[in-house]
Amino acid sequence: MTPNIFSESRQQDSVFRNKFRLMPEFVPDELPCRDNEIGQLVENLRILLDPDQSVAVNIAITGPPGVGKTTMTKKTLNDLKSAAISNKINLDTFYVNCHSFRTKTSILRRLATDKFHIQGRGFSDEELIEMVATRLSKENLRMVLAIDEASILSGKDILSFIHLNELFQTGEGRLSTMIICRRSEWSLMLSASLSGRIHDQLNLDGYTREQLEIILNYRKQLAFYADVISDKVMDLIVDICTKTRNARHGIEMMLRSGMKANAVKASVVTPELIREVKNEVYPELRSDVFEDLKTNELLTGLSVGRLLSKPGVVSTTVTDIYNRYKLVCEEYHEKIHSMSTFRIHLTTLEKLGIVSHSVGSLDEGTRGRRSKISLYDIPAIILVERIENVLKSKNQK
Ligand SMILES: Nc1ncnc2c1ncn2[C@@H]1O[C@H](COP(=O)(O)OP(=O)(O)O)[C@@H](O)[C@H]1O
Ligand SMILES: [Mg+2]
Repeated sequence: MTPNIFSESRQQDSVFRNKFRLMPEFVPDELPCRDNEIGQLVENLRILLDPDQSVAVNIAITGPPGVGKTTMTKKTLNDLKSAAISNKINLDTFYVNCHSFRTKTSILRRLATDKFHIQGRGFSDEELIEMVATRLSKENLRMVLAIDEASILSGKDILSFIHLNELFQTGEGRLSTMIICRRSEWSLMLSASLSGRIHDQLNLDGYTREQLEIILNYRKQLAFYADVISDKVMDLIVDICTKTRNARHGIEMMLRSGMKANAVKASVVTPELIREVKNEVYPELRSDVFEDLKTNELLTGLSVGRLLSKPGVVSTTVTDIYNRYKLVCEEYHEKIHSMSTFRIHLTTLEKLGIVSHSVGSLDEGTRGRRSKISLYDIPAIILVERIENVLKSKNQK
């Protein structure tokens, strides 16, 4: 058979076999080093494939960033759905990331529209929940709802999805949930009534050096041509992300260094390139977070970044940022939002873990409490650069 001309021939001027395989949306076939966790999920969810049972399962998945929570969830949903098809079980799955859908209402609407073609607008949350429940019952359907970055919602919101099952006959359940968030945020969300409804909680830990080595080598061979990243360079990458124990950190460094190699028409990734991208890559600041933000939220972030990138400035105030924000809006020809809307944008950035907002003690001589805005562990210059890039690509679209 003649080989496909796109599959084997090395694309000119690229070190990548397939760059997409390093992007956040890509779900690899395998998730090395997560066998135990996947096994635990399978144990919990297997009951949904039993034709004689109709129960709902609620699982929490917690852990620091970059440990595979999202990817493992997506892979589990995909495999569960195919297994249901083979077993002739009427099961569907629905994944939402609260970065994009930030309220209970927006999630409900999207679920109703995507899965049941119900136009969500004009209905209250309670009405939508009832309509979804009626359809699940009528169609004899089991649904698994995965809510990622769930800490953007409140524990009460999460409970209202779980409570949907109370509309069915006693003991019957049709809507299962997988709730994904950082561990500390999960403890904040957790109430006695919520924890009573969670059947199992998986706590993922940061990866060890050995695990990162296995994972990153696997991703390397999926994305790069052979010999582009040598073992020595790989060691360097693994060393750097062992400090954060975060696989995304390593994957993002591979992606960026590959792109830099392409830009200078190099055929390999050198240690120098890794040292260069090392200072640019911050796994907390994932590009997908920014892609989902609205323009005015980006401009708010940009104002914070610009103010804090002045030498010696470590924190600033809401008023100062708002003043800067007005200038930034003019620069980008965007409508200036009112102070109260601007505060909502700031809260969004705070919930996403980009800016930190602390209320200081009463300052002597000034009125009221002063709230201080600063950045979590991310250099302001990096924030500015990333947001400017997203705004640029938004403008080009
Ligand atoms: N065990 C693994 N095997 C292969 N790739 C992984 C593994 N764990 C994480 N990744 C990759 O690392 C990146 C971060 O994973 P992700 O699931 O987004 O982490 P989290 O949701 O915990 O922040 C993604 O690109 C993902 O594909
Ligand atoms: Mg995630």
